[in-house]
Amino acid sequence: MIKSTYAATQPGAVAISDRVHWIGALDPSLRTFDIILKTANGTTYNSYLVRGSEGMAVIDTVKEVFSETFFKRLESVADYSEIKYIVLNHLEPDHTGALPELMRRAPQARLFISQRAQSMLKALLKHDQFEFTPVMTGDTVSLGDRTLRFLNTPYLHWPDTQCTYLEEEKVLFSGDVFGCHYCDARLFNDRVGDFRFSFEYYYAHIMRPFREYVLKALKLIEPLPLSMIAPSHGPVLRDRPDQYLLHYRRLATSALDSEIGQEKSLLIFYISSYGNTARMAEAVYEAVGEIEGVRASLYDLEGGEVAPFVDLIEEADGLLFGTPTINGDAVKPVWDLLSSLAVVQTRGKLAGAFGSYGWSGEAVRMVEERLRGLKMTVPVEGLRIKLIPTDEELDACRAFGTSIGRALIGDVENRIVEMVQR
Ligand code: FEO
Repeated sequence: MIKSTYAATQPGAVAISDRVHWIGALDPSLRTFDIILKTANGTTYNSYLVRGSEGMAVIDTVKEVFSETFFKRLESVADYSEIKYIVLNHLEPDHTGALPELMRRAPQARLFISQRAQSMLKALLKHDQFEFTPVMTGDTVSLGDRTLRFLNTPYLHWPDTQCTYLEEEKVLFSGDVFGCHYCDARLFNDRVGDFRFSFEYYYAHIMRPFREYVLKALKLIEPLPLSMIAPSHGPVLRDRPDQYLLHYRRLATSALDSEIGQEKSLLIFYISSYGNTARMAEAVYEAVGEIEGVRASLYDLEGGEVAPFVDLIEEADGLLFGTPTINGDAVKPVWDLLSSLAVVQTRGKLAGAFGSYGWSGEAVRMVEERLRGLKMTVPVEGLRIKLIPTDEELDACRAFGTSIGRALIGDVENRIVEMVQR
């Protein structure tokens, strides 16, 4: 157990269990990670050293600019000649920056990576000389009285990601998953400040688009007895590690399923200048509402914020967007919502567009293209109506809604509308 309040500000390694040392780096001044992620107090690049009776293993390294710190910490507890294995749970440069120099200093070390990391290793590290062993779930390597077992956990958040479990000490080296950008030199979750916001923010921006893979990974991880989760960013989770598994399961599980059971959820978003697109939306909504097995919801984008709508979209089966055409384009609130969907999984959802227009009416097709770009299926050609919809045109809106609703429950064969069909 660490006695110092600010363990990680000391130059040496920090013991986190009987045979495991933290040898990572603190980066308290970082404010933006990977262009898109904000962090109010920096991050950490966590690397770990595991000592067995027959050698040592390094789990991940650090961002290249922090190499000197990393090597000093490593040298405080090991000779390079003792390093038998290097495990890379993830190849992103914030964890592999010091790898080339580590391989130079410990050329005898065997490198373990996931199967999917193989093609990425050379491209990322621009290095031909590394020999490596690809591993799968269940593979183990022995350090004598300590054993490392690998778990294949792809897309958390890259294809290559894996976790490594130290069997005898019940420590899970999880890579980015269960991590967060939160720098506190006290290092352990029971000592650092309140990092709940950072933990959830990190999940929402990094893991959320891959929640199906999160649930698959949890199936592998949950049966393991855990004394500690040692992620590659942020606090080491030694106090109640199981709570973090539960929290991830809650975050990755749809709450909507328990609300609407087997019904399909369709969200209709619209915005309207003179009420014409609104009339179309209401007619579509009315028709969809009559289809058994579909739960439709209608939202005026003028009255809502983007973030809660993104949450709704994540759990929906189908989406419709109603937009007028103004100056040859869809309107900003529609684009704002569509450009915010990178954090959720949209692939395979059913989608469509409709709208009233004055003279050109490009918006519907532009929105449809964006929906396809997000890998959604557009089963019914978008509906455009010039200015005020007539009674016949409102019937067409109802027919459009019925077609979408039927496609949603699988009552008709989905026909993906390609541009060449126009
Ligand atoms: Fe922390 Fe995906 O690198």
